[in-house]
Formats: sequence, C-alpha cells, structure tokens
Amino acid sequence: MTRNQKTIVVGVTGGIAAYKTCELVRALVKRGHRVKVVMTEAATRFVTPLVFRTLTNEPVGVSLWADEPGSPVHHVSLAEEADVMVIAPCTANVIAKLAHGRADDLLTTTALATEAPLVIAPAMNVHMWRRDVTQANLAALSARGVTIVEPGVGELACGDVGEGRLAPVEEILAAVEVETARARDLEGVRVLVTAGGTHEPIDPVRYVGNRSSGKTGFAIAAEAVRRGAEVTLVTGPTHLADPFGCTVVRIQTALEMHAAVMERAADADLVVMSAAVADFRPADPADGKIKKAEAPDRITLVGNPDILAELGQRADVRAVLVGFAAETSDVLEHARKKLAAKRCHLIVANDVSDPSVGFGTEHNRVWFITSSGAEETGLTSKNAIARTLLDRARKLLPAR
Ligand code: PMT
Repeated sequence: MTRNQKTIVVGVTGGIAAYKTCELVRALVKRGHRVKVVMTEAATRFVTPLVFRTLTNEPVGVSLWADEPGSPVHHVSLAEEADVMVIAPCTANVIAKLAHGRADDLLTTTALATEAPLVIAPAMNVHMWRRDVTQANLAALSARGVTIVEPGVGELACGDVGEGRLAPVEEILAAVEVETARARDLEGVRVLVTAGGTHEPIDPVRYVGNRSSGKTGFAIAAEAVRRGAEVTLVTGPTHLADPFGCTVVRIQTALEMHAAVMERAADADLVVMSAAVADFRPADPADGKIKKAEAPDRITLVGNPDILAELGQRADVRAVLVGFAAETSDVLEHARKKLAAKRCHLIVANDVSDPSVGFGTEHNRVWFITSSGAEETGLTSKNAIARTLLDRARKLLPAR
C-alpha cells in the first residue's frame, strides 16, 4: 500500500439502490483506494458478492462465521483496517441498529467496532424515511459524529414519490473523500488537550466547581487519536472513560492541572485548553470535614494561575494554542479580548447562558475566532466541533 492509499470499508445493505454501490466502489478503486466490501445477507439478494469481489479484487465479507480457523477475527480486522467506513445504501433497519449499538451481523459488528469515521447514505421508502423513529435514529447518529449523506427526492422504486432515493454517487464519494483527507492527517503531531472542570476543595469532602462534563475535551482527544496524533489528555473529575489510545492524566484542582500542563507543554505541537479551569480557589481549605455547627460565614477565595495565559508567555512553548471562551453576554467581544490577552492562535467561543448548549450537553454552538475573523458553526455535536477545531488547528501548524 502506498502512503496515501486509504482503506475504505464499504457496507452494503438490502435495498434496490445496492446496484448503485457498484458504481461507488468502482469510483473509489479508481481513485486509488483499497476497498473492502461487507454486505448484509439481504444485500446479497440484490447484488451478488462476486460483483464486488471482481470490482475490488478483495474478498467480500457477508457472514460473521466464515473465517478460516486461526485467522484474525474478521469484523475486528476489518474495523481496524478501515480509514473510513461508508454504508450505502443504508436501510432504515440498519440505521436503527447502528443508533442502538446492535451488532448481529458482520456489517453492524464492523460498524460498532471501528474507530474510523462512519459515513452513511440512507435509501428507503419515503414513509419509512419520514417516520419519527427513523429521524430520531438519524439524529442520534449525527450527534455521535456520523456523516449522513441525505437521500434525494424523486420517484422511488416502490412507485412512491418523495425523499428516499440514494444520494448521487458523486455526493457519497465527496463525503468519503472529506473523511479520507482527515484520516491520519495529524500523524506525528503531539497534542495536549485539557478537559472537564476543576474541583477546588473547601474541606476534604466539599469543593467549589462547575458543570463541565469533559465531553468536549474527550471528543477532541478521541478525534486527534483517530487522526494519528500522539495525544495527552489532562482532565478534571468526570465520569467519562479514558478515550482509547491516549495518555490520560487525571487531576482534581486547577493547581494540579497547571502543574500537569506546564510539565508537558514544551513538548506539544498543539495545546487545546477546553477545560473549565476554576479561576478561584478557597484560600484556606480545612483539613477535616467542617462541622455543620461550625459553618464559616464566608469563604475567602484566592486566584488560580491562568494556565493558557502563562503558556502564551512561555518562550519555550512553540505549540499552536487553542483556547475556549465561556461567555454569557457579548460573546464575540469578550472572546476576542481573550484571544489577544492570552496570546492564543484560535479561540472557540460559546454562549453558556443558554442551558441547552455548552456545559454537560451533547451539542454546542460555537464561534471559531482568529485575528482574521469569526465563524459560527450553528448547533452541532461536540464530535463535529472536535473535527472542525482540529481541521482549523492543523492549518495553523507550521509546515512539517
Ligand atoms: O465539558 P463540557 O460539558 O463538554 O462543556 C464544555 C465547556 C462549556 C466547558 C467548553 O465549551 C468551554 O467553554 N470551556 C472553557 C471554559 C472556561 O474556562 O472558559 P473561560 O472563558 O473562563 O476561560 C478562557 C480560557 O482560559 C479557556 O481555554 C480556559 O481553559 C483557560 N483558563 C481559564 C482559567 C484559568 N485559570 N486557566 C486557564 O487556562
């Protein structure tokens, strides 16, 4: 395989549009990709595996149980090999399975096991497409970062007219190419990400904190790993499990985060400070649990170090610096001030006065702000924000 050649796993499910997947597969092969096709049993009723085998010169997977004894577990090896997985056509049934994490055949098992970006091109009857449960399943997949190539409108194979026709092959191809371009574009880049909030102790059991869940930072770390970066994630307390493939440093307080980041920043090419670091901490935390009857009238706070601002001033830190700005009013104005004051290259601003986005939610609406302008994303998943953030940050990295 040449360095630029990508492995695309093409999933084919049981719909009449499966014949168009032959064209998609041909186009991918023509572009120099290595294409591995996996089909559901139902798909083989529309197109035989032999067609795809002939087009790709690779074995076609259908059954979970067809492996030679001693060979690697098929769905796992396919999942690991994939740089991108695309399912076209993707039926309502398979969309429902993907949305609920079901894995009962080779195709859905591969989709669940892969770390590669997933693109789906739905095709179905218009009523199935419009059904609220199908739309809810698609929304769930989109929120998890799956790219959905929306079906076109027109006459359907069943005779109905409406949405449900498989999108044109060129559109599916373009979506796959966007993902392949991203695949491993951060190979060799050392990324330091901070996530979550910090807990500033009042006594051994109580703390001053905030509502950050860590989802944003974890999504950035996971996306950077997927794209080949060497990632260290410094995170405050969160219930999230360690993302696969990165070094995770778990801390509690802003001072601990400060120490962890300062120790590693000089070795990083990119630092993304998505953590909600507490600006203040109780000046004098009690050694023992404060008794109810002895509750203090007031708690004196002292300032914590500003980690991002300090990075912006350290001569030995050469990394591209990406900060976040959590604002409740005049978002752009305040965020621009932070961009300059903290000397970072890019600020990701969000309006945290809206409880439906930002802290703890699955979605957010952010502005990417540099010295040359600002661009809003609209409401989107934190995975999608992570992708765009890394696309932008990558362009700021010095040419290597
Ligand atoms: O974790 P989630 O639930 O997904 O929520 C995501 C989020 C709302 C936490 C995230 O989108 C976000 O806004 N993170 C930054 C929160 C914040 O601390 O914003 P700020 O405007 O107070 O700080 C500006 C920048 O300085 C941030 O990059 C922050 O990490 C950094 N900072 C702040 C204080 C401090 N003492 N040291 C810092 O480095």
